[in-house]
Amino acid sequence: MTAKQNASALLCALLFVGELSLAGSLSSQGMRGTIRKETFGKAAGGEQVDLYTLSNKKGMEVALTNFGATAVTLKVPDRAGKLADVVLGFDTLEGYEHGTAYFGATVGRYGNRIGGGKFSIDGKTYALPKNNGDNTLHGGITGFNKKAWKAREIASKDGESLEMSYLSADGEEGFPGNLSVKVVFTLPTDGNELKIDYTATTDKDTVLNLTNHSYFNLAGEGNGDILDHVLTLHAKQFTPVDKTLIPTGELRDVAGTPLDFTRATAIGKRINESYEQLAFGKGYDHNWVLASDSRKGLALAAEVYDPKSGRTLEVLTTEPGVQFYSGNFLDGPKGKGNKPYGRRAAFCLETQHFPDSPNHPNFPSTLLKPNSVFRSQTVFRFSAK
Ligand code: BGC
Repeated sequence: MTAKQNASALLCALLFVGELSLAGSLSSQGMRGTIRKETFGKAAGGEQVDLYTLSNKKGMEVALTNFGATAVTLKVPDRAGKLADVVLGFDTLEGYEHGTAYFGATVGRYGNRIGGGKFSIDGKTYALPKNNGDNTLHGGITGFNKKAWKAREIASKDGESLEMSYLSADGEEGFPGNLSVKVVFTLPTDGNELKIDYTATTDKDTVLNLTNHSYFNLAGEGNGDILDHVLTLHAKQFTPVDKTLIPTGELRDVAGTPLDFTRATAIGKRINESYEQLAFGKGYDHNWVLASDSRKGLALAAEVYDPKSGRTLEVLTTEPGVQFYSGNFLDGPKGKGNKPYGRRAAFCLETQHFPDSPNHPNFPSTLLKPNSVFRSQTVFRFSAK
C-alpha cells in the first residue's frame, strides 16, 4: 500500500466513525426522521423495498426507492411555481422489477457498454454476460438497478440525506472483487437540486463506472417529446462509436458536427441529419468528453431549458464524461398513471467515465484497487426562467 492509499484508508475509517457518531447523537436528540418512509413492496428475493420522500421548503420533492437506488419522482416548479414530476418511472415496484429501460436507477457495476463482454486486468481476462448483442450493457443481466439496496437516513448539514448501500460480491456478473458501494442522495434545504455522492471500495482490483439513469422531461413526465428542449453541453469532443455503440477509441472534435452543443441548441434541430454517428445511435446516444477542468472538481457539464415551462436543469459533475441519450429506444412502456412513454419522451444525461474504458488505455482509467476509495459527485440543479 502506498502512503497515499494508507492515508485515504485511514481517512475513510475516520469518516465512517464520524458519521456513525453524528448519526447517533442526532437520533438521540430526536432530530432525524424528517424523510417520509412508506412501503413500496417486497422484492422477488424477499427483501423489503421502501419509498423515501425528501422535500424542502422551496417545494421540491424527491422520492427514492432502495430497489436499484432509484429516483422515482422528482417534482420541481415551473416559472409560475407549478410543480411537475420531471422524471419517467413507474407507480409500483413491479414496474421497476420488470422494466428494461433503467428509469431513474443507479447503474453499475459498469455503466454503459463493455465491448465483447470482456476485459483484462494484469493479463487476466474476465468474461461478462452479454446482454446487448455481443456487448455487456449497464452491469450485465442483473445490474445494480435490479438489486435491493440498504437505505438509511443520515445526518446532513445541508438538508435531507438518504444513504443507499450495496455489497456486490466477488464474481457477481463476472466482475472481480467484493465491491462495497454507497450512494448518498441529498436534497438541500434551500436549493432545488439533487446531490448524488458515490463512494466505493474493493478487496481486489476491479473496474467500475457508476451513474444515475434518470430520464428527464422538463415539461413533466408523459408530456410529449423532448425535441424542443434546448441543450448546452460543455464539451468540445465526443467518443465516436461503431455500429454496436462501442467507442472506436478516437476523441473527435464536435465542431462542424450535429453533436456540437457548445452553444444552446434544440435537441431536435439536427437529430435527423445524415451523419453516421446519429445513424448508429438512432439519434443521440454518445459520450461527450467534458472540458478537462471538470476532472479536477465539480463543474458544469450540461444545461437543458424547456421553453414551454421555463424549467431548467443544470448538471454538474466530477466525472470526465457524460452520456447524452435522447431516448431513441423508448418504445412505449406504460409508466406512471399508465401513460405510454414513446420514442424521445425523455433524455438522459448520465455522468460517467467513458464507455468501454477497460479496453481503451487512452481513456481515463476505471480501475479501482484495494485500499483506495472511489469518489464521485453529480448534482442535478433546477431553476425556472
Ligand atoms: C445507453 C443506450 C440504452 C439506454 C437504456 C443508455 O445509457 O447509452 O444505448 O438504450 O441506456 O438502456
